[in-house]
Amino acid sequence: VYNQIYQNPLPIPPVKQPKQTIVNPVTGNNIQYYEIEIKKFDQQVYPGKSPAHLIGYDGISPGPSIVVEKGTETVVRFLNNPANPRENSVHLHGSPSRAPFDGWAEDITEPGQYKDYYYPNYQSARLLWYHDHAVHETAENAYFGQAGAYIITDAAENSLGLPSGYGQFDIPLILSSKFYNQDGTLRTSTTEDQNLWGDIIHVNGQPWPFLNVQPRKYRFRFLNAAISRDFGLHFVKSSAVNTKLPFKVIASDAGLLEAPVTTSVLEMGVAERYEIVFDFSSYAGQTLELRNLPDGGGIGTDEDFDNTGKVMKFTVSSTPVTDTSNVPSTLRQVPFPPAGNTINHHFRFHRSNGEWQINGIGFADAANRILANVPRGTVEIWELENSSGGWTHPIHIHLVDFRVKERIGGDAGRGVQPYEAAGLKDVVWLGRGETVLVEAHYAPWNGVYMFHCHNLIHEDQDMMAAFNVTQLPD
Ligand code: C2O
Ligand code: CU
Repeated sequence: VYNQIYQNPLPIPPVKQPKQTIVNPVTGNNIQYYEIEIKKFDQQVYPGKSPAHLIGYDGISPGPSIVVEKGTETVVRFLNNPANPRENSVHLHGSPSRAPFDGWAEDITEPGQYKDYYYPNYQSARLLWYHDHAVHETAENAYFGQAGAYIITDAAENSLGLPSGYGQFDIPLILSSKFYNQDGTLRTSTTEDQNLWGDIIHVNGQPWPFLNVQPRKYRFRFLNAAISRDFGLHFVKSSAVNTKLPFKVIASDAGLLEAPVTTSVLEMGVAERYEIVFDFSSYAGQTLELRNLPDGGGIGTDEDFDNTGKVMKFTVSSTPVTDTSNVPSTLRQVPFPPAGNTINHHFRFHRSNGEWQINGIGFADAANRILANVPRGTVEIWELENSSGGWTHPIHIHLVDFRVKERIGGDAGRGVQPYEAAGLKDVVWLGRGETVLVEAHYAPWNGVYMFHCHNLIHEDQDMMAAFNVTQLPD
């Protein structure tokens, strides 16, 4: 039993420094060159037991945060240390990377090899994340540590006056959920073929941490980096845990929303990002907790354990401070695709004969796994249908940002949540019996890209396929 709930401080992943800055002779843009080594490390999770033996980017988990300004290109060399037991492939989730740099699941780097990934970073400010994507090993690699934050900043966002300062008033909160063995080591995920819920909730790699805060506004960047677990996040006072406190959602997968959305529960499927501003100013001298609702608040069918309803604790100082940050009532004009009515593709996510599949195809079926040809530059509506009974699936489409247009059916009858509708996304959860319409502009590159369930157990069990973006004829 883990008995150190709220006993350890929240770690903040360090910011990765580039090894070299050069000017791209073709574009005139700066290129930052980074080197990251995937290597083993030990983390003492259970006091008095053996440490967990993990493998992470630069030997930490989460990996170091890459923070880059819009318009600055990056090249990241990911070296797979020769002593590692497994292959890797790195995907920068949320980036419209060219296909050879997108972490295609079979584009494998063996132990002892490296690959240089080029990232364009022309997008507006947002939280991306980099994680492993190796075929049939993604869950195990991510679970043992291979995930990190990648933040794009831009001048428009900086001018808004939101709470700022990485690690100070602008803090990544990377959520995960794991199981450990009796001896304190991490229990492997390779024997699991349905879901890996985890009974220990981690934030930035630390089980149930605490953070001391000032009575002022903070920006928190949430990333659900769990293997299967959904979250229904909410804040409470420790002295009144049944009253959910309001906060403002300001950004989602593809960056700022049009306007802040006030809520008291934030539902997050695997791989989703949401950013919020929480104002601690009315809680000076009090203790608050970030908590989790069963089944991610209703979007999933998660298995819960004794303490999976808890996430982390905030101790608010009683010393008043001056807070000059603010949350404007309009954040930006979101580049929504023009609204259409034609459904271009229909994809059914299902389980047949113990296989996780999309339209009857699994990723291993190389001859049949390209399920859509999409003319480059067009806007398409895809209909994503969950026909797998009681299962739920967070669906991720590579390359694009999409609008969550409509939620149809489903036993919860939830509709599109206001914070889903106010921005663009690259992951959308499919609830029980639900069909979701997503609309995206398929650009700017040609290429074969993956789309899949981001429950990493389902993904590794082949609930993944591809689409081919091709140029329109002249
Ligand atoms: Cu976050 Cu295809 O992955
Ligand atoms: Cu799934």
